[in-house]
Amino acid sequence: MRSIKRRDFLRLSAGTTAAMLLSQCARSQPISSTPVSGPIQFQTYKSEGGLLSLDLEAKAQSVQLGDRTANLLAYNGTVPGPLLEAKPGDKVQIRFTNQLDQPTNIHHHGLHIPPTGSGDNVFLEISPGKSHTYEYQIPDTHPAGTFWYHPHKHGLVAEQLFGGLAGLFIVRGELDEIPEVKAAKEEFLVLKDFALDSNGNISDTGHMAAMTGRAGGLLTASGQVNPAMTISKGGLLRLRLLNASPSRFFRLSLEDHPLHLIATDGGAISSPAELSEVVLAPGERAEVLVQGSQKPGEYRLLNQPFNPAQGGMMGGMMGGNQSSGRSETVATLTYEGSTEEIPLPTQLIAIEPLPEPQTTRQFTLNHGMGGGGMMMGGGMVFMINDKAYDPSRIDTQVMLNTVEDWEITNTGSMAHPFHVHTNKFQIISQNGQPVPYPAWKDVVSVSPGETVCIRMAFRDYTGKTVYHCHVLDHEDRGMMGTLEIQQA
Ligand code: C2O
Ligand code: CU
Ligand code: CU
Repeated sequence: MRSIKRRDFLRLSAGTTAAMLLSQCARSQPISSTPVSGPIQFQTYKSEGGLLSLDLEAKAQSVQLGDRTANLLAYNGTVPGPLLEAKPGDKVQIRFTNQLDQPTNIHHHGLHIPPTGSGDNVFLEISPGKSHTYEYQIPDTHPAGTFWYHPHKHGLVAEQLFGGLAGLFIVRGELDEIPEVKAAKEEFLVLKDFALDSNGNISDTGHMAAMTGRAGGLLTASGQVNPAMTISKGGLLRLRLLNASPSRFFRLSLEDHPLHLIATDGGAISSPAELSEVVLAPGERAEVLVQGSQKPGEYRLLNQPFNPAQGGMMGGMMGGNQSSGRSETVATLTYEGSTEEIPLPTQLIAIEPLPEPQTTRQFTLNHGMGGGGMMMGGGMVFMINDKAYDPSRIDTQVMLNTVEDWEITNTGSMAHPFHVHTNKFQIISQNGQPVPYPAWKDVVSVSPGETVCIRMAFRDYTGKTVYHCHVLDHEDRGMMGTLEIQQA
């Protein structure tokens, strides 16, 4: 059998390599010591008999965030929102009610479902006090993976996500049936930063936030500060990681334990890849396996300083309140008991290479001053191909059942995690360099000066959808375009 102990690094996000070089010196800086809190818990809804059916309500309310009471926006009273779980082929019915004082809607990030009607329709607007039932079927062929839901009302997305509105949507399928993966203990880590004032209200993140995107100093994992996770000696732990922050990047490593990547945004990769750290841009997901192969003890899951603008080179400089310049503990892993040794899986799920593209398109990402002209942020406009989002315009028309390459170039000075709805893609190259192995993605971070080429097949669904920067202040300030998928 071929050795799968590859020491290569998936470029989950630009700057990973530069970040690697720095991890030595970053490690010597003090790590904030936060007491370990309880285990991770979720309100969970699973499909039964082929149907996932639930009521979901968005509302401003006070919730417990670590040892603080915070006045946030919550789905069904919890931050993050309930964990939804379904299987390929299942029907989904979400009876949603908006109890906020502003309009909202729900986006099903990463799911391959219709972008129209009552599916993943981000053009719907649900007014305060109104309800809407989201109803769709997950296709039989849908890959297993870690997806999520969050508001997508243009202009309010960053504010509502920063307020706390986000939840996991897990699709269980083929990947979950691989014996070693099935035998692994599972933890769900929704990574999210908050900024609270002394009264527990969301604090103003300052005028820089309009430029860099809002960020806060309170780091949470699934609504807790430094939750406890356990692994048994000899066992496997499967971490499902989601960066649900509106603009903060995470650079994660686990003390003395390599991370074995098994899945990216769109589902499994073909075989595990050993990483020393995982960088997640806003919106990105990764699933990793951890082996319980060390001495029993406590090991911290750390977030290292990472500056997206500089590809990780200058922690904290451009980030404003993004980075405290030191490592922080996100969660703590302890050993508990022992089991017969579970090996890592050798093969996961083959990734079909996409056919050669019929069309290649160029997209440039940049920002400029809008009408207002205030220094640093006030009048900032973010653009794709020199245009700010206009809901009455269709920016890109493609044909169903075709394949395209999109070359995305960042001509600005900040990183932009580029995200496309409805269909997942493969990264073909970053700055002309091929990626080490194929992976299904729906977010790719493009650093200043960089060009990333992605390949995408438009399958199953026609209609209008969007692509945008997942630094949500950038999206709200115009860095979004409308994509129309037309019947061939
Ligand atoms: Cu998670 Cu259109 O985004
Ligand atoms: Cu999305
Ligand atoms: Cu951006």
